[in-house]
Amino acid sequence: MFPTDRPRRLRTDGVRSLVSETSLSASDLIAPVFVDATADERVAIESMPGHERVPVSEAVARVEEVLATGVEAVMVFGIPESKDAVGSRAYAEDGVVQRAVRDIAAETDAYVITDVCLCEYTDHGHCGVVEEHAAEDPTLTVQNDETLDLLSKTAVSHAEAGADMVAPSSMTDGMVGAIRDGLDASGFDAVPVMSYAVKYESSFYGPFRDAADGAPAFGDRRHYQMDPANRREALREARADVEQGADVLMVKPGLPYLDVVRDVREGFDRPVAAYNVSGEYAMLHAAADRGWLDLEATAHESLLSLKRAGADLILTYFAEDVAESL
Ligand code: PBG
Repeated sequence: MFPTDRPRRLRTDGVRSLVSETSLSASDLIAPVFVDATADERVAIESMPGHERVPVSEAVARVEEVLATGVEAVMVFGIPESKDAVGSRAYAEDGVVQRAVRDIAAETDAYVITDVCLCEYTDHGHCGVVEEHAAEDPTLTVQNDETLDLLSKTAVSHAEAGADMVAPSSMTDGMVGAIRDGLDASGFDAVPVMSYAVKYESSFYGPFRDAADGAPAFGDRRHYQMDPANRREALREARADVEQGADVLMVKPGLPYLDVVRDVREGFDRPVAAYNVSGEYAMLHAAADRGWLDLEATAHESLLSLKRAGADLILTYFAEDVAESL
């Protein structure tokens, strides 16, 4: 007890780092990369300063930029040349992600993870097949079981192109099992699945939906993504994915859900990933632009907080900047 006990004794410059409980390193980070089949040149993403959509021909160069910062893993998102009701460009052999991943795998040493979802590829913008009159009737939603086969085909096509890991993000019940079965049946039993196991129906995805052109044309995603009010349900989602063979469990978004990151860390013996999403990135940039926050310091503190909460790996738009500043 005070005055014997003085926590400040361990806060001097010499000893601070010796007793620090959490650290951040470039090897914890995954950088998102956007490849756009409709682009002839790099296009800046306005709501995500410093990020661009790049044409397939620039995918390797983009990944080399990431690697130069010390970050070794990328998450590839695709913007297809066309969209249809069943998202067929998501699982096409010559789809945008498949072409980019083939090049990246052949020409770089990056660890390549792919986002497996249909929302960027469907003309209605939902993460799966929708019922015919869904636009007029808000009670109709994504047809869960009809979507599973398409997700599995998408994951297998990514593995065929050379993806090292696949990351399903559609919140379709049974998606991990369907993808695991598809990969195993095609000889990809060594390709791990990082499930977006606990993905909330969050308003923090706004800038991403501009970047990837994946906003739903009608309705919202609350029939399949989780209610932000729920904590207990996260464990149910994570358990289902573990039972279906998930190798890594992701919580998304990150900062507003640190309690959930901690719960998943303590509840399961799988590595936990946190997705520091587009809105978390955009708000720090917006405040820093006004001189209200120090961007580098708040970015670092954000990622450190995710690790302190229990994340082993972090998917973040800050990956390159933070890695360079370490
Ligand atoms: C696709 C997907 C989304 C994000 C990642 N994958 C959008 C969504 O679910 O609406 C959002 C990522 C971010 O905001 O950074 N399903």
